[in-house]
Amino acid sequence: MKFNLSEVNDLIRSRRTIFPENYSDRKVHKEQIENIIQNGQWAPNHGNTQPWKFIVFQDKSKERLSDFLAQEYLNQTPKEQQNDAKLAKLLTRPLKSSAVIAVCLDRKPDSKISELEEIEAVACCIQNMYLTCTAYGLGAFWATPKVMYSEAMNTFLNIQEPQKCLALFYIGYPESKDWPKAHRKPIEYTTEWLSE
Ligand SMILES: Cc1cc2nc3c(=O)[nH]c(=O)nc-3n(C[C@H](O)[C@H](O)[C@H](O)COP(=O)(O)O)c2cc1C
Repeated sequence: MKFNLSEVNDLIRSRRTIFPENYSDRKVHKEQIENIIQNGQWAPNHGNTQPWKFIVFQDKSKERLSDFLAQEYLNQTPKEQQNDAKLAKLLTRPLKSSAVIAVCLDRKPDSKISELEEIEAVACCIQNMYLTCTAYGLGAFWATPKVMYSEAMNTFLNIQEPQKCLALFYIGYPESKDWPKAHRKPIEYTTEWLSE
């Protein structure tokens, strides 16, 4: 065995979404964020196009993100559909996090690889980021609020089509020592075995 499989199993199975509401004030170091991104970049990707780009919000820039998300939610949502709880989450989540990483599809306009496959590569990258956070004992949350997919978001991030933001990746140390639990179906429910 090349790696300790028991630890690998534990890492993968204990990866959890932890929301910023449950983060403490403890700061995540720049070196940790660099390592999270570095491991993200080791994701499989067709043709080694490495179709990702990361924009890291820390310190005061989190306030700009918070203001943008809240204002854009109000701009894009008809008044009768506006929801105070949703607005509050958009406003407070960047501020409650130690850092927020906008993970973007960075696709060359003449790429020979389909957009679907490049999006899949970015999803693998985000999973690597999640796992690295778990190894550090960091909470992480892959958020995809509706406003994130808007033209206004591209302008805010200073990216242009075919680039697009695919995740707001919130990170911070969890307040509680109790790591959340979850469950998955046994593989008998999801797997078909063929032998001839
Ligand atoms: C593509 C994608 C988009 C997601 N977007 C959101 C989101 O906008 N809001 C949210 O609460 N969770 C979002 N999640 C996180 C899921 O809610 C979370 O993974 C799920 O509840 C399972 O929990 P776990 O991550 O702890 O296993 C997203 C996950 C994926 C893979």
